Amino acid sequence: MSAFSTQNENGVCLITFDLPGEPVNKLTAAVRVELEALLIRLKEDSAARAVVLISGKPDNFIAGADIEEFTALTSQDAAERLSFEGQETVSRVETSHKPIVAAIHGACLGGGLELALACHYRIATDHPKTQLGLPEVQLGLIPGAGGCQRLPRLIGARAALDMILTGRSERAAKALRLGLVDEVVPRSILRQVAVAAADRLARNGLPRRSGKGGMAGMILDRTSAGRRLVYRGARKQVLQKTGGHYPAPLAALEAVRVGLEQGVTAGLAEEHRAFGELAVGDVSRKLVQIFFATTALKKDDGVPPGSATPRQIRRLGIVGSGFMGAGIAGTAVLNVEVDTRLKDSDLTRVGKGLKAADRMLAERLKKRRLTRPQYQRLSALLSGSADFSGFNRADLVIEAVFEDLDTKRKVLAEVEERVRPDTIFATNTSTIPIRHIAEYARRPERVLGMHFFSPVERMPLLEVIPSPATSPDTIVTAVRFGRRMGKTVIVVADRPGFWVNRILSPYLNEAGHLLQEGVPIDVIDRTMTSFGFPVGPVALLDEIGLDVAEKAGNVMHAAFGERMKPAGALGRMLGATRLGRKNGRGFYQYRQGHKAGVDKSVYPLLGVRPAEADPQLVQRRLVYSMLNEAATACSENVVRSPRDADIGAIFGIGFPAFRGGPLRMIDDLGASRVVETLYHLQEQFGERFRPAAALLEMSRRSGRYYPA
Ligand code: NAI
Repeated sequence: MSAFSTQNENGVCLITFDLPGEPVNKLTAAVRVELEALLIRLKEDSAARAVVLISGKPDNFIAGADIEEFTALTSQDAAERLSFEGQETVSRVETSHKPIVAAIHGACLGGGLELALACHYRIATDHPKTQLGLPEVQLGLIPGAGGCQRLPRLIGARAALDMILTGRSERAAKALRLGLVDEVVPRSILRQVAVAAADRLARNGLPRRSGKGGMAGMILDRTSAGRRLVYRGARKQVLQKTGGHYPAPLAALEAVRVGLEQGVTAGLAEEHRAFGELAVGDVSRKLVQIFFATTALKKDDGVPPGSATPRQIRRLGIVGSGFMGAGIAGTAVLNVEVDTRLKDSDLTRVGKGLKAADRMLAERLKKRRLTRPQYQRLSALLSGSADFSGFNRADLVIEAVFEDLDTKRKVLAEVEERVRPDTIFATNTSTIPIRHIAEYARRPERVLGMHFFSPVERMPLLEVIPSPATSPDTIVTAVRFGRRMGKTVIVVADRPGFWVNRILSPYLNEAGHLLQEGVPIDVIDRTMTSFGFPVGPVALLDEIGLDVAEKAGNVMHAAFGERMKPAGALGRMLGATRLGRKNGRGFYQYRQGHKAGVDKSVYPLLGVRPAEADPQLVQRRLVYSMLNEAATACSENVVRSPRDADIGAIFGIGFPAFRGGPLRMIDDLGASRVVETLYHLQEQFGERFRPAAALLEMSRRSGRYYPA
């Protein structure tokens, strides 16, 4: 079956791309061959003076290259060739004597945008699904089909690097401002406008585009001295953001630089060379695995397929309009557009929560991600009260009140009294077992945990926690709702700390031990940011709140005994009413809400004197405490699969993606090496480092978490 069909409209050949049997268009090798043959035929077709390329998919122009093809690559040569062939196809589009117009509706990403860039004119719809971008660096790759050459030539070096090095995609309005597209139109007239534009180009010749960016653009983008500044700035920014762990952005920068300074031919050569090197490299392999894992999770409802029926959630009730309640409300309204009612114990608190949720919407308005009418419509979905009025219509109630078992049980009882029998009750507890909260529930099959992370709007993970009594329908409904909220959802077991806080706990405790030994705070944090975490464990404690962290630490200690015993540092901090960022006093100082360096008065408070420490050993202690607990929890089936475990660690804690997650890391090191290191640590620092039984077993039979 053919991916392209053609049709002649008044001398314009309309090519419709509709890859058979796929939800989105991908530029597979077969598609490229077909497109090239089509271009050759068109050259001879005297009835067509111009061409329009449009998609036959409902909300997708071209999603990009076929990532499966990347994973099949076994050598650098083969990867380089793939990139080179892509460049050739795209060049044939550009050198077509008949003008080609790209009519873009829906995602136009990666190779899709590279193809569109080679067209002679681009028209995009104003629909929110229309997104243009080069996300290759997010897979550890670079745009390898001419994107590093054509984008900077079209929109200038600065704007192009901004898109390529972050992998961020842009909506149509912004794309128009950047000069990335020539016109933006409503979807209903895309095709007509594109045909008319193609006809116009055939008659009047190609458009002349003026450079964007005014005087600064003139100097920075169009002189080589100016561009040198741009490259230097971009490089610095990349290194700051990636800590040097991700080679792709730097390689993309180089491909852009070579192209602009030495010409397109040299640029293309550098581009396919670097693509080949990166595609078979370890970082890209890891990032591609994560991409596949998250894609698979999007189709995973947490129950065997067909075993449960999801319910529609039209109305959401939230009890507790504090920090988390408000964050959940704002995120639900923004992403699911669901009618949301907030309840708290008095109207002042309700008002505060509503305002915080509304601020999230207003933020989007300010950034022009929402129009004013859209903002008003969404804002009207938020309401609140100090009683349960309206809850009788809720399909799902999420509870985010204080972390206290009795309070949570009481709220559950109050809610059950007022809602329909089929309403689902989800608790956002971070430590209390769901089955304890549900112990006196009238309908325990409708109760489960939905553990969001803070801040809700930015943290991509959601843990869904069924108790043994939760029904499959309830699970699938919660999973799907979380997904609609934009979260990657893992279903985890009802054990203390669930998955994420379970593996975080020994890690934060180890930071406490290090603090009590007088290891300087900045040494502790720097070893972990250089390992690849976005923040170090001490800074993280400040973010979580030392009161919250202590409480959670005690729960974990009670559940798992000696190996999870906190070091006592937090107690001393709390004794001096240091709560972390939230009251502006923690391990760090805060000025106007901004972190302002380590607070040295902490050391006497802890009764220590900061002393030199071996950063390597500090890092090993922190990392291995987490790896060891991950192995134990995994063997207790806290997670369903290594995939869920690693995704949870990466999205919930910020475990460095280029390392693939804690279990992937154990595989890479080899269980026996991990065991050996743990034995050393156990000798020096005690029983908490005793290797997990699961690791010993794995090392005995040379086992792995993932197939080799
Ligand atoms: P918060 O203190 O900001 O908000 C709690 C809200 O619940 C307050 O507005 C309070 O007035 C209200 N409330 C208390 N009892 C109530 C009752 N009986 N009826 C109605 N409202 C009541 O606390 P936060 O941080 O939002 O935490 C809420 C829950 O979310 C806790 O279970 C916590 O463990 C969990 N959680 C917190 C995270 C965080 O980082 N802060 C992360 C993940 C979960």
